[in-house]
Amino acid sequence: MNLIFEKSRTGRGCSILPKSDVPMYSLDDKITRKTELHLPQVAEVDISRHYTQLIKRTHGLNNGFYPLGSCTMKYNPKVNEEIASLPAFKKIHPLQPAHSVQGCMEVIANAEKYLCEISGMDSMTFQPAAGAHGELTGILIIKAYHEARGDFKRTKIIVPDAAHGTNPASATMGNFTTVSVPSNAEGCVDIEKLRELVGDDTAGLMLTNPNTVGIFDKNILEITKIIHDAGGLNYYDGANLNAVMGVVRPGDMGFDVVHMNLHKTFSTPHGGGGPGSGPVGCKKFLASFMPVYHVVERDGSYDFDMPAQTIGSVKAFYGNFLVVVKALTYILNIGAEGILEASQNAVLNANYMRALLSKTYDIAFDGICMHEFVISLEGLKKKTGVSALDVAKMLLDRGIHPPTMYFPLIVHEALMFEPTETESKETLDEAVDLLLSIYEAAQNNEEQFHQAPLHTPVRRLDEVGAARNLVLRYQF
Ligand SMILES: Cc1ncc(COP(=O)(O)O)c(C=O)c1O
Repeated sequence: MNLIFEKSRTGRGCSILPKSDVPMYSLDDKITRKTELHLPQVAEVDISRHYTQLIKRTHGLNNGFYPLGSCTMKYNPKVNEEIASLPAFKKIHPLQPAHSVQGCMEVIANAEKYLCEISGMDSMTFQPAAGAHGELTGILIIKAYHEARGDFKRTKIIVPDAAHGTNPASATMGNFTTVSVPSNAEGCVDIEKLRELVGDDTAGLMLTNPNTVGIFDKNILEITKIIHDAGGLNYYDGANLNAVMGVVRPGDMGFDVVHMNLHKTFSTPHGGGGPGSGPVGCKKFLASFMPVYHVVERDGSYDFDMPAQTIGSVKAFYGNFLVVVKALTYILNIGAEGILEASQNAVLNANYMRALLSKTYDIAFDGICMHEFVISLEGLKKKTGVSALDVAKMLLDRGIHPPTMYFPLIVHEALMFEPTETESKETLDEAVDLLLSIYEAAQNNEEQFHQAPLHTPVRRLDEVGAARNLVLRYQF
């Protein structure tokens, strides 16, 4: 398929502008372009067909089941998009004075109130644009806290090996040394190892909970106490909050800082590179370190406040505001009961699939899971030569987006499923039947599996070639 640039022909376009009725003004030669700007010149009909073709070549949530583990590809109600598209939200400018955007500031203040209530935190910033960005922000807050007390020896962040990959990366970006604590046979943090690792150089712990094998750590209160007793702070990666919201709160489990992924749990699509939001919440004693600016209510109107010991700005202005609008719409729409029900359904759906598949497939750390579970195809690969990648490609041919492959790293030949709360029993049954029939077919059709997918717009890609010979720019 040609790129839109390749479809471009000089002089074509979509807009017919009226004749100018203001005097011509020429910019200084010094600041004008010397070469032509490469913008595609394409008629509206060709643009429309181009994007329709692209849509047909992708598997989106509207095409079918999309159980991408850890990424929460759930269906997001259209009403949230509609509200976020209202001109009063969409057409404001971040440099408008506070008195002219009181309604928008009220949205941020209310989103903060509800998300603090859901997470058990006291203060929240909406500046971070993604989960990993929130993690870095939280880590910088933890660093600022220790340094403000003159405690510079705390240079280590402890990260369980079942944490999301961004956790150690964020700690490293915050200039900490990461220390990995292993999981035990149940997929939880090895408590004895944790005790050995903590000390007066521990700045804190970053815990993904439920973790990347879909397990809620049953020793969570003990874990946070061990860190606090050593003088460290506890960071909760709450990107998987759709498994626990309305049931338990990180703030009640001993966590001091938490981030959430609004673009997973609170109704903005995850993935696709669209705008996200990874708000960070913290307990009162850390609020003065939060990024600028914090929306506060004073004498019946809203204003911006500068936290006294702020770590500064982590993104321009107020973060991705429209994502916050969608999150607030979602929360108000489904209410406290809906929040709880969403978590319960996310967990129920994952366990329903897990239980039906566990008779055939090897489930890593089998037992009641939270919102996701991990299958290991190590045994199948040894027996038949069919790998997790082959099964994933075969699923594409059958109309299901494959789950996350080869993650988490602690499970070999991993396929990580997150069915999400928005899928019906019928969809789950269909997916389970398909997975069972694929397992059966794998027993004596190795070659056919290596060839898959056969029916997708592009066949199996040369992943090694793509990684070794990166082509990131289109050459005009
Ligand atoms: C548990 C967990 N933590 C952190 C992240 C990082 O979030 P983001 O991709 O928005 O940076 C993700 C991503 O899905 C995640 O699943």
